[in-house]
Amino acid sequence: MDTTSLWRATARGPCFGMLKGDEQCDVLVIGGGITGVTTALLLAEQGRKVVLLEADEIGSGTTGNSTGNLYMTTSQGLSSVASSWDDGVAREAMLARKSAVDFIEQRCRDLPGAAFTRCAMYRGARFATDQPSVEQEHQTLARLGAPVRMEEGWPGGLPPPSGRVMVLADQAQFQPQAYVTGLARLAAKAGASVHEHSRVLELDAKQRIATTSGGTVKAGEIVMATHSPKGVHIVHAEMPVHREYAVAFEVGAVDPGPGIFWWKGEEGLSIRILVHEGKRYLVAAGSEHKVGTHNAKAALMAVEAMANSHLSPGPLVHRWSAQNYRSHDGLPYIGRDHSGCFIATGFATDGLTWGTVAARGIAAELAGQKDAFIERCSPRRFTPMKGAKALVEENVTTLKTLVQGYLTGGQHEHLANLAPGDSAIVEADGETFAAYRAPDGELFAVSPVCTHMGCKVRWNSVETSWDCPCHGSRFRPDGTVIEGPAVAPLKRRTTELR
Ligand SMILES: Cc1cc2nc3c(=O)[nH]c(=O)nc-3n(C[C@H](O)[C@H](O)[C@H](O)COP(=O)(O)OP(=O)(O)OC[C@H]3O[C@@H](n4cnc5c(N)ncnc54)[C@H](O)[C@@H]3O)c2cc1C
Ligand code: FES
Repeated sequence: MDTTSLWRATARGPCFGMLKGDEQCDVLVIGGGITGVTTALLLAEQGRKVVLLEADEIGSGTTGNSTGNLYMTTSQGLSSVASSWDDGVAREAMLARKSAVDFIEQRCRDLPGAAFTRCAMYRGARFATDQPSVEQEHQTLARLGAPVRMEEGWPGGLPPPSGRVMVLADQAQFQPQAYVTGLARLAAKAGASVHEHSRVLELDAKQRIATTSGGTVKAGEIVMATHSPKGVHIVHAEMPVHREYAVAFEVGAVDPGPGIFWWKGEEGLSIRILVHEGKRYLVAAGSEHKVGTHNAKAALMAVEAMANSHLSPGPLVHRWSAQNYRSHDGLPYIGRDHSGCFIATGFATDGLTWGTVAARGIAAELAGQKDAFIERCSPRRFTPMKGAKALVEENVTTLKTLVQGYLTGGQHEHLANLAPGDSAIVEADGETFAAYRAPDGELFAVSPVCTHMGCKVRWNSVETSWDCPCHGSRFRPDGTVIEGPAVAPLKRRTTELR
């Protein structure tokens, strides 16, 4: 199935060459999403020698597969930050996010393709049981001084909410892929050495040396802007990982115009419009599912069916999905980790703005400026009481996954039964394999044991990948890493399996 997002399909990449040979720099930024590219640009503008290494293409991670909305609140609501912390911290978070959206607006003045538009954010409940959370978020935002009000409905024929709708004025939306590729061009123009198709295969954090298949980079400082930090970090134990599915249609009967529309609750939708070269597209993203523990095809089809039945769209043009990592207490993790490298993660589905907050905070810290909010977001904070319930539930799930992963022998299949396009955990020659037979008949057999911390991977039928339910590492059928904290590929089995 083609899973190219609307954003990636409608914005052309800048095409930077692979790293070839050895380079030295002041700061190495690993990852070419919004966090990495913004960091590289700001540091290059400070006059530092910067290298940016992107495993695939700029924006090809989560940034180019998001929904492109920018807002001062968060998807869980600032009410949840206020209840984990207090109103003072929730206000700090709101102001940091507002300032990041203003920063993006300013940068977009040089990037017309990024289609930055100021608009309102609407938050309504799908079912009456979800209405109290809408009311609560309204009360919190009003208390924090945000430009918020309640209205009886929302515009443009959207499905009716169960009660009053919260309207947060002066938020924004843009084309995230066009923005990030535009910033990468500006970073290169400011002197950064940017390389695509340059996956970091080994990272010596102590010596500050990163190795790719084409060369090495020796740096004074390293920023891991890889969405989830590579290797083993305490934050992985604190972050549930979810996939979300999105679809884009040509606009049909329902066209609400500019705005961020969140129809919250079980089987809710996030809805927005993109106008590209005179054509209007309707984007709908559905609720989240824990990585590796759901049927990907069913989840994608459910979003498609919901959009079809409630939004009367035109023809479907794109389907895609992406992953989010949520922190345990509503704030992201930004700052130096135990090895002294910078990490930036735990953004939930709010990371276009949090990633910008992180980049500005890291660039400021490297320029010797302290920011109290960024210090609060330190990855070395450990405040289990603030998200204790979620944290315990998450670790129980992980533990169960580890145990179940090794005990579910009953679902094993025989290789001979594996038809083209099928995948299974199979046993052959006394060993267990994660096997996939490509439509052309080629067989890929890899170890099912995740190279991060040893959980057992599960098949993702939409993206033809092996996904790890523990901390979200994902692997191609040949075992190579797609995303997540794993660095090493799944061990390839090249026995006489045919
Ligand atoms: C469906 C969905 C919709 C969303 N919508 C919104 C939204 O509307 N608004 C919002 O604010 N947030 C949204 N988010 C969240 C947001 O998209 C992310 O938090 C944000 O894009 C993260 O940016 P990033 O730069 O940190 O990570 P990414 O964009 O994932 O970039 C990380 C990059 O690192 C690269 N990388 C990884 N490993 C290596 C390696 N070893 N070597 C070199 N490079 C490597 C990857 O290839 C990738 O390009 C959404 C998330 C999802 C899942
Ligand atoms: S991602 Fe941590 S064990 Fe697989």
